[in-house]
Amino acid sequence: MISLKGKTAVVTGGSGGIGQEIVFSLAQCGANVVILDVKIDLAEQVVEKIKFPNQKALALQVDITDRVQVENSFNSILDHFGSIDILVNNAGVLSNKSIPNITKDDWDRVMAVNMEGPFITSQTAFPIMMKQKFGRIINISSVAAKKGPGFLADTIYVASKAGLIGLTKGFAHEGAKHGITVNAVCPGPTDTEMVKDFINEKREQIKAGVPMGRLGTGQDIANAVMFLASDLAQYITGEIMDVNGGLLMD
Ligand SMILES: NC(=O)c1ccc[n+]([C@@H]2O[C@H](COP(=O)([O-])OP(=O)(O)OC[C@H]3O[C@@H](n4cnc5c(N)ncnc54)[C@H](O)[C@@H]3O)[C@@H](O)[C@H]2O)c1
Repeated sequence: MISLKGKTAVVTGGSGGIGQEIVFSLAQCGANVVILDVKIDLAEQVVEKIKFPNQKALALQVDITDRVQVENSFNSILDHFGSIDILVNNAGVLSNKSIPNITKDDWDRVMAVNMEGPFITSQTAFPIMMKQKFGRIINISSVAAKKGPGFLADTIYVASKAGLIGLTKGFAHEGAKHGITVNAVCPGPTDTEMVKDFINEKREQIKAGVPMGRLGTGQDIANAVMFLASDLAQYITGEIMDVNGGLLMD
């Protein structure tokens, strides 16, 4: 069993389908967990379910695209828990439009949440982790970043998630000498609220394209995150890990 006892983990979008499983899994490993999400009611419901003795969980209403909100929340997490050891940049939004229909607002929204938000949270966490000489940053990208648009994702989603891979490598390079590892996980189609409408329409077609013959679950993604957050992965940085049932092998 992986132990993250004494560590504090921040999970953005922790009330969503994949985020919840990441939160529960990190808590099960012994970490204190903080959810940053715009949906505070849902985030509080997730926190309510974490009832391990000697562990704390907190939900904060934070829009990760707002630097002031992020900085204020990180200051209160430090006051509350004393450290920020693990940051999981999981919050994201989907976009599924053909190129002529994409508006500037679509571009701004998708880039802000999927790429600028993780930059803001990681940049805010960096000096804290440098001071600690320890940090784990795990970015949730997507198979679409490598494979290109498909059933679910369009050009701007792909670009934003590919950009997140670029950020992963940049932060990994600079974090390496400070005890900070930075990695990304690329889920394939995973059964959550975000993709429900698309998956329901084309479920069999999508499953047929996955060599393992099933969609991913939030737990599949959380398992990879737990590993990358743990001491088992201490020599792994800048890695872009596929969790997709064989949909893409590279
Ligand atoms: N579900 C899939 O098939 C799939 C596949 C590949 C990658 N991903 C990625 O996995 C991550 C989680 O996806 P999911 O399927 O659980 O989606 P979801 O919609 O269930 O969860 C996303 C969460 O992010 C939060 N969020 C959105 N904008 C935010 C903001 N500005 N600030 C703070 N929180 C914000 C939402 O409130 C929500 O709780 C996303 O980054 C997504 O792009 C999902």
